[in-house]
Amino acid sequence: MTSSGERVVITAAFYQFSPAFGRREDNIDRVAAALHEMKLDLLVLPEFFATGYQFLSTAEVEALAEEIPAGYTTQRLVRMARERGMHIVAGLPEREGDRFFNSAIIVGPDGFIGSYRKTHLFFEEKLFFASGDSGFRVWDTKIGRIGIMICFDWFFPESMRILALKGADIVAHPANLVLPYCPESMPVRCRENRVYAITANRTGVEERRDGYPLRFIGQSRIVTPEGEVVIATAPDEEVLRVAEIEPETARNKRLNPFNDLFADRRPEFYHGLIEPLL
Ligand code: ACM
Repeated sequence: MTSSGERVVITAAFYQFSPAFGRREDNIDRVAAALHEMKLDLLVLPEFFATGYQFLSTAEVEALAEEIPAGYTTQRLVRMARERGMHIVAGLPEREGDRFFNSAIIVGPDGFIGSYRKTHLFFEEKLFFASGDSGFRVWDTKIGRIGIMICFDWFFPESMRILALKGADIVAHPANLVLPYCPESMPVRCRENRVYAITANRTGVEERRDGYPLRFIGQSRIVTPEGEVVIATAPDEEVLRVAEIEPETARNKRLNPFNDLFADRRPEFYHGLIEPLL
């Protein structure tokens, strides 16, 4: 509810597709074509949506990583968001000096809003990217409080927990998932934190090294704070899917008259989460 008691309903979407490696302009054109005339409040795009995923060398990362917000991809998404009066969350390789991060940005109708650097790197990402140093962030926007985590971050319950504790209504989750576990796990993550999640995964296969294919599992989804999957996609579909959601319902952490999932926490007994147990 707003201060005037009005329910705020927004149209939230993801675009699941198979980007072509290295073809930034074409991949962004595909996003624009998929949006067509559609009016959305929020669009979530996959991790590395404009570059593809399977980097083979630091030289390739150098060629495709961009400064944020000055780089090509961020600037194109800023224009798209301005022209369409919408918010976009999207993953891209970031360059800062001689370091590279697996990052995501959030842009809105008024321009660039912020960025997040992936905290938990997966597999060979560790060869080319530095572990994220931004920490988890939540932005208070006109359409709700939006936090970001990237792909493998989901495997660490702390990621969504800290975003929820920082006030996120919606966790935008750009992904390039290859393991099978995330789609069935997100309802639990949402239910235990009472937040929405929009997982925008990619689909397709990249085999840039012979005999070493990466098959992305698709199955993007939008999940409610109760853990209901309101939109689910198949592994191989290329599709833009939309749901109407009420972000502020995520602020109610109450299960019954006696239990509030956040007020009932007992952080005095959670020390081992921060100082490693011996
Ligand atoms: C992943 O974090 N891209 C699996």
